[in-house]
Amino acid sequence: MRLPKKVVIKEVGPRDGLQNEKQMLSTEEKILWINSLSETGLSYIEVSSFVHPKWIPQLSDATEVFKGIKKRQGVTYSALVPNIRGLDRALEVDVDEISVFMSASEGHNLANINKSIAETYPILAEVVKEAKMAEKTVRGYVSTVIACPIEGPVAPSQVKEVANRLFSMGIDELSLGDTIGVGVPTQVERLLEELLPLYDSSKLALHFHDTRGTAISNIVKAMEMGITIFDSALGGLGGCPYALGASGNVATDDLLYLLHEMGIETGVDLTQILKSAQLLERILGKSLNSRQMDIIRKKGKERIS
Ligand code: HMG
Ligand code: MG
Repeated sequence: MRLPKKVVIKEVGPRDGLQNEKQMLSTEEKILWINSLSETGLSYIEVSSFVHPKWIPQLSDATEVFKGIKKRQGVTYSALVPNIRGLDRALEVDVDEISVFMSASEGHNLANINKSIAETYPILAEVVKEAKMAEKTVRGYVSTVIACPIEGPVAPSQVKEVANRLFSMGIDELSLGDTIGVGVPTQVERLLEELLPLYDSSKLALHFHDTRGTAISNIVKAMEMGITIFDSALGGLGGCPYALGASGNVATDDLLYLLHEMGIETGVDLTQILKSAQLLERILGKSLNSRQMDIIRKKGKERIS
């Protein structure tokens, strides 16, 4: 197997994870949890999103969360931004990196951001331009890269079209989202075969939701093809409220187990990650859905030493 020596994990739990949680967390609880994530060795934390508060009420305190967290040197603290209004809010609190997002399929794009794909391009182009003028790096997301909850299968050529448009706007990196967690390694291979001739693997990240338990096998396939950036959420939280059937992201703790056992460096301390997961369980008042947390429960350990 040809595998990378090192992989970057981008923790999206505070944004993708919490946006799908019904129980409202207080700003203080979010800050406490994000501060604990900062102590784990993670180099990237997606903190929140500056979307319309009515669309994602859980993240309506993005400004207060950014003001309250203790930023650790060497960690990038990013946020999702859908338009110029969102960018202005993000710049007010000096977010490190701006993430713009859209879908490869019309159905999900409309359901998620209330615009057609064609209407979305100029909005995001303006955000990328303004973010660059503010000297921010910009990440792009394209959702529904394998299938759309409304339209079904999505062709790799559709993803390529959106990817080309986002890169031509000037994004620094593109995260490819299997929003509803339907993908399998053969589909990941076809998608990457479409994109890798055009873009260096260092510019592409993969973002798997694990609805059908295929995320880990997809990540191994992607690593074999040269991808070294993966999004994940602590304890397997996550999902898009505007994509029926979307469940949690691949769990950061399960992904770390896989990578470390394979001898791949991440710079992240699994023990600290599990402590942060236990803190989150106490805050949420429920068990997290990862294999690692399940094992801890079965062993009957109250705390991780
Ligand atoms: P809209 O209603 O079409 O917005 O929503 P609009 O531009 O027509 O504006 C309507 C009003 O909203 C205006 O106020 C704006 O100022 C206000 P009014 O003049 O009527 O008083 N407004 C805002 N207020 C605060 N912050 C803003 C903002 N924008 C407009 N940013 C919009 C369009 C995009 C805003 C809305 O659809 C939205 O917020 N959608 C976000 C949905 C979302 O967050 N989904 C989850 C994230 S994506 C995801 O999870 C997938 C991913 O994980 C990858 C994967 O898994 O595939 C990234
Ligand atoms: Mg997602």
